[in-house]
Amino acid sequence: MPTAVEHLRRMRGGAQPQLMRCSDDGYYVVKFLDNPQHPRVLANEWLGAALGTSLGLPVPSAAIVEVTPALAERSEDMVIQLARGRQRLGAGRQFGSRYPGHPDQLAVYDFLPDEVLLEVENLPDFLGMLVFDKWTCNTNGRQAIFYRSPGGSRFRALMIDQGFCFNAGEWDFPDAPLRGLYTRACVYHAVTGIRSFEPWLERLESRLGERAFDEAASRMPPEWYNFDQESLDRLLDRLWSRRRRVRDLIAAAKDTYRQPFPNWK
Ligand SMILES: Nc1ncnc2c1ncn2[C@@H]1O[C@H](COP(=O)(O)OP(=O)(O)O)[C@@H](O)[C@H]1O
Ligand SMILES: [Mg+2]
Repeated sequence: MPTAVEHLRRMRGGAQPQLMRCSDDGYYVVKFLDNPQHPRVLANEWLGAALGTSLGLPVPSAAIVEVTPALAERSEDMVIQLARGRQRLGAGRQFGSRYPGHPDQLAVYDFLPDEVLLEVENLPDFLGMLVFDKWTCNTNGRQAIFYRSPGGSRFRALMIDQGFCFNAGEWDFPDAPLRGLYTRACVYHAVTGIRSFEPWLERLESRLGERAFDEAASRMPPEWYNFDQESLDRLLDRLWSRRRRVRDLIAAAKDTYRQPFPNWK
């Protein structure tokens, strides 16, 4: 478990995560237990990273980041902005999403213009990520970041922000046809039918082992789900039994007014 050694800056976003340098020489975007959204956001990120990895999707590596009281004390800017004033962030075990390099040397972008987006080297992973987002009922739109690996000329996408999977703090699954889609429709232009999602659907339905998420869940700090083992077990059971419904959830997006898949005949 890496320990945070330096607070660099606050990032954008509703959970108000913090960029931190850690003892393994990695940089992490850290979400705190006392974030303004919900403590379960950390559990969702952790489980999301494990589930995404098990489907072969490009999610940043996840870590439990230890923030010591000494660091919390001396990092005056490690605060969240509230409607009324600021609140200092505390010590403890927090969720870290690994920055894909050194923040001073590697530029990371939240958005790309369509013509550049279409050249992203792992563009088909957006289809796999829709499988993930339908499965987990992510109630936020899909979010990604883009960077160029050293020496590479094309951008690569990393899928970030799994905080609103399972409907954030609710842990229910309010499925709706347009949920989980990425805002730029061009990432779905290659879709010609449900077959376009098959590699990930096949993994989800036939190759995924239940143990994959049981094991990840057992390594999660229990304060991230308020020590509520019963709710966690129920969440994992529901996830397991939803696997075969995902293809129908994707098909339900097809006939909506937004027509996300214009080439699906
Ligand atoms: N692993 C990461 N590497 C680099 N930047 C990241 C990473 N994770 C998040 N970010 C940056 O931090 C911002 C906020 O992260 P996000 O997970 O979206 O938080 P929130 O839940 O508050 O929306 C993102 O818009 C992105 O710019
Ligand atoms: Mg976000």
